[in-house]
Amino acid sequence: MMVLGIETSCDETAAAVVSHGERILSNVVWSQVATHHPYGGVVPELASRKHVEKIVPVVEEALDRSGVNSNRLDGVAVTCGPGLVGALLVGASFAKAYAYAQGLPLTGVNHLEGHVAAVYMERPPPPFPFVALLASGGHTNLYYVKGRTDFELMGQTRDDAAGEAFDKVAKLLGLGYPGGQVMDQLSEGGDPERIHFPRALLDKTSFDFSFSGVKTAVARYVAKVQQAGSVSLEDIAAGFQEAVVDVLVQKAIWATEKKRCETLAVVGGVAANSRLRFRIKEEANRFGVSVHIPKPELCTDNAAMIAAMGYWHLSEGKDSPLDLDVYSKKPRVLNGLSSNG
Ligand code: KG4
Ligand code: ZN
Repeated sequence: MMVLGIETSCDETAAAVVSHGERILSNVVWSQVATHHPYGGVVPELASRKHVEKIVPVVEEALDRSGVNSNRLDGVAVTCGPGLVGALLVGASFAKAYAYAQGLPLTGVNHLEGHVAAVYMERPPPPFPFVALLASGGHTNLYYVKGRTDFELMGQTRDDAAGEAFDKVAKLLGLGYPGGQVMDQLSEGGDPERIHFPRALLDKTSFDFSFSGVKTAVARYVAKVQQAGSVSLEDIAAGFQEAVVDVLVQKAIWATEKKRCETLAVVGGVAANSRLRFRIKEEANRFGVSVHIPKPELCTDNAAMIAAMGYWHLSEGKDSPLDLDVYSKKPRVLNGLSSNG
C-alpha cells in the first residue's frame, strides 16, 4: 500500500511517499527557516503563505522522486493537528482536494503520533509496549505506548518544551533561529561540566518536565559574565545542553523502570541532538533497555512519518471524511494522545 503523506503543521512544507508504512520512496522537506529567521521565531501568517506557495511543487517533487505515478497511490495522509491552524489548513485543504480528485481515501494524522511513527520505519521497529520520549519545539511528553494508537500520557512539560528552550537560549546567545542544531554544534567545542545550570523536577515522583528555569538561569549567567567581560559561548551551550539532556535521559529511563518496560523510543526534533542520542544510548545500555531513535532527518518534522502513520490508519479502515477539521491543541483524532500546545 502506497501512501502520500503531507505535513504543514509549522514551518516546514513536506510531502513523502511511503510504501507499507515502512519503506520511504521519497521524503521532501521545504524549510521556511529563511523566511522566519529575521523575526527570531515562526510568524504564523507568513508560514501559511509560504505553505500555499510551496505545497504543489513539494508534492510534485515527492511524487517525481518516488517514481510512483499518482494512479498507483492507495491513500493520502495529512497532519491535522496540533500546530498552527492556518498552516495546517493549507495541507489539509490540499490533501482533501487531491484525495477527492484522485478518488483516494484520506486520513488525518495527529502530528505527535506521526513523530512516534518515525520509529516504525526503522529496522527493527520497537516491539509493543514501549516508552516514548517525544521532545520537540512544541512538546516534551513521555508516553507509554501500548499499540499504534493506544498511548498513555505519563508526563509532560509544565512550561517550555525542550526544543523551545534550545531555541530561546540560542536567541539570547545571539545565534539566531531555530537554535537546536546550532547549539548542538557549538556544544561540541565546550565543556559540559564547567557551568552548572539547574535541573528542574529531577525526582522520581513526577514524569513532568520544566525547562523555563534553566533558560532563565542561562540569561542570568550571561548578564553576569558579560559585565565581567568574559564569556565562552561554547561552555554555556554545552552546560545548558547537558542540563536539558540529563533530565530527558533520567526521566525516560525512570519511565521504563516504572512500567517494567525494556524498550524506549526517542522521537521529535530534539531527538536529533547528538549529545542526547549518545547519552540515552549509554544509559539505556546500562539499564538493559533497548533504545530506538529514528535517523535525525526523521526526528525533525517530515511527511514520511505522517505517511507511515497514515498507512496504519488506512489499513485499519480509519479513513477520515472530507470535512476533516484541523486543530491547534486538542487532539480530536485520538483518545489517549495529549498535547500541551
Ligand atoms: O519536531 P520538530 O521538527 O518540530 C516540532 O514539532 O516542534 O522540532 C523542532 C525543534 C526545534 O525547537 C529545534 O530547535 C529542535 O527541535 N532541534 C534540536 C536539534 N535539531 C532540532 N534541538 C537540539 N539539538 C538538535 N540537533
Ligand atoms: Zn514536530
